Amino acid sequence: MDPEQAVEMVDENTICVAAILGSTLNGEFEDVKRINDLSCAECSFCRWETPIHVDAASGGFIAPFLYPELEWDFRLPWVKSINVSGHKYGLVYPGIGWCVWRTKEDLPDELIFHINYLGSDQPTFTLNFSKGSSQVIAQYYQLIRHGTQGYRNIMENCQENAMVVKEGLEKTGRFNIVSKDEGVPLVAFSLKDHSRHDEFEISDMLRRFGWIVPAYTMPADAQHVTVLRVVIREEFSRTLAERLVLDIDTVMAQLDALPSKLAPPALLPATLPKTVVVANGHVKKTELETQKSVTEAWKKFVLAKKTNGV
Ligand SMILES: Cc1ncc(COP(=O)(O)O)c(C=O)c1O
Repeated sequence: MDPEQAVEMVDENTICVAAILGSTLNGEFEDVKRINDLSCAECSFCRWETPIHVDAASGGFIAPFLYPELEWDFRLPWVKSINVSGHKYGLVYPGIGWCVWRTKEDLPDELIFHINYLGSDQPTFTLNFSKGSSQVIAQYYQLIRHGTQGYRNIMENCQENAMVVKEGLEKTGRFNIVSKDEGVPLVAFSLKDHSRHDEFEISDMLRRFGWIVPAYTMPADAQHVTVLRVVIREEFSRTLAERLVLDIDTVMAQLDALPSKLAPPALLPATLPKTVVVANGHVKKTELETQKSVTEAWKKFVLAKKTNGV
């Protein structure tokens, strides 16, 4: 996000400016303080009293421990609400996340359902009503079990292991690192040379070694960039980090030995006969045309399988 542009876009219809603390795509922290500081008495941001919401799904459990000086939270007056996923760096099994508001007044009362249920008022701000409490208990346990220092140790460890992966990948000389050192402990990287293979092939081949490393294209205006992403969590040890780099190295060597899937079709005709021979009224296909029709037939076959859900 460009803070200047975001603030300029604010008008009477803006509910909030949402900043992400830890982008899903590359782990980057957006500059919440800059957005906050851009507001001045004359800007539409202040005129419409536009709140800032921080989506700190991952960063909410990272920034306080790794970057305590970074101001992204209620230290900034325009930040009125923050959401955090407990099941990410809160270190709980899936199913817990929460949102906190700066003051009671910042959560409009009309968004809360008051239900007269079994004799008492039950205010609820969720989409469903009854829900198990096991994740809340697990989160509570983790908070008191680790404490501030425990979480700090774990996050520092994650960050160090992220650097092991990053430096290992840099040493191969084959990748550009597209994540920053400050942010979520993850490494997003892309191939320097796309002439023979792409990131999707690396992701596929890594599965054979038991790794699920997603490959994806970046969003609008950067779709031409494809990245692989490794998220480092508590249980990802230094040994695993070194092992992953070795396996990526092995995959690269295996890919080097394979023919490129990305050979541009335009190169093929030069090596194949181009003439179409007509014999007995029948058109004899060139090798290229035969190849194309076989490929087409296979594509149809595969697509038919897919739509059948097989
Ligand atoms: C920035 C960001 N916001 C929100 C979410 C969704 O979080 P949850 O799975 O807790 O709903 C994610 C998940 O990856 C995320 O990265």
